[in-house]
Amino acid sequence: MGRSTIRVALLAAGCAALAGCQTMRDTADSVGTAVSNGWDKLWGSSGNVAVAEVKPTQGSTVSGKVEFKQSGSVVRVSVDLTGFAPGSGHGFHVHERGDCSAPDAMSAGGHFNPEGAAHGSFDHPPHHAGDLPNLKADDKGQVHTTFEVTYLSVGSGGSDVAGRSVVVHRDADDYKSQPAGNSGPRLACGVIVEK
Ligand code: CU
Ligand code: ZN
Repeated sequence: MGRSTIRVALLAAGCAALAGCQTMRDTADSVGTAVSNGWDKLWGSSGNVAVAEVKPTQGSTVSGKVEFKQSGSVVRVSVDLTGFAPGSGHGFHVHERGDCSAPDAMSAGGHFNPEGAAHGSFDHPPHHAGDLPNLKADDKGQVHTTFEVTYLSVGSGGSDVAGRSVVVHRDADDYKSQPAGNSGPRLACGVIVEK
């Protein structure tokens, strides 16, 4: 069973735990907030933030910052990186170990995979918890983007990114080759630290 299916079930449980949830006649916004609050009670995770200072591996020029911010069941990922070839595409993942000490960042281990899933695409199961969308550099060789995922958490829970690492690869992830999408060597790495 994929992560998103599990989350849907838990979200429903959070709603059921709230008194009056089923009879609520408020606006859609209020209902959404109530469901988020139910989620936060289950997981103790409201607005938690973690940041990775991303440093180049040996021979690379890629560096910058990645931020993970949880709001209810959603984690917003903000990416600001420079030093790419203009227009290039790059695999981007959360890796298992918060250790970027090796010159090639192999110390970060494989993709963060608490559920023992296969590698895949972020937008449909099965995939690793650490599988994220490819990054696309602009004509200045920079990436400034944000996206949201529902299968990670920040500061608690089984898919907590804190203490892991983010890794940027030389090549784009094909979203299917095992175990890591054939995205080539590691260009940059940053340990994810909870704020
Ligand atoms: Cu990776
Ligand atoms: Zn993966």
